[in-house]
Amino acid sequence: MERTELFELARKAAEKSYSPYSKFRVGAALLCDDGTVVSAANVENRSYGLTICAERSALVSAIAQGKKGFSALAISCPDADYPVSPCGACRQFISEFVGADFPIRFGGGDGRVVDTTMGELLPHDALHELSSR
Ligand code: THU
Repeated sequence: MERTELFELARKAAEKSYSPYSKFRVGAALLCDDGTVVSAANVENRSYGLTICAERSALVSAIAQGKKGFSALAISCPDADYPVSPCGACRQFISEFVGADFPIRFGGGDGRVVDTTMGELLPHDALHELSSR
């Protein structure tokens, strides 16, 4: 699947955002190795800290659906006037399931996108050996 198409799915997913507090919609589209796309949005809570970002929402949904491997992720923030990158917590969370070469595209509502990788967003990644114990 083309990156443009995946990003468009992320933009559409942002329409499902539950963000009455920040009014900042975010959508994510995760391309799975089986060719399917799992998309999701950010889900906020009146206890602000319980908010779940779109990226984590997509990964949790995909894992819960039994998806095993992932080949790309697109994130759209249509309410931003610049491309907004995944937050630090999401970088850590995504890194649990993908390798350093995993492609990530993020973009704002201004049409600009940034193409990067997991390794660029989270260098010096550590502790993967713990999961095989
Ligand atoms: N948010 C995401 O969903 N992903 C990001 O990468 C940045 C932030 C959400 C969390 C919150 O609902 C809103 O955007 C404002 O921070």
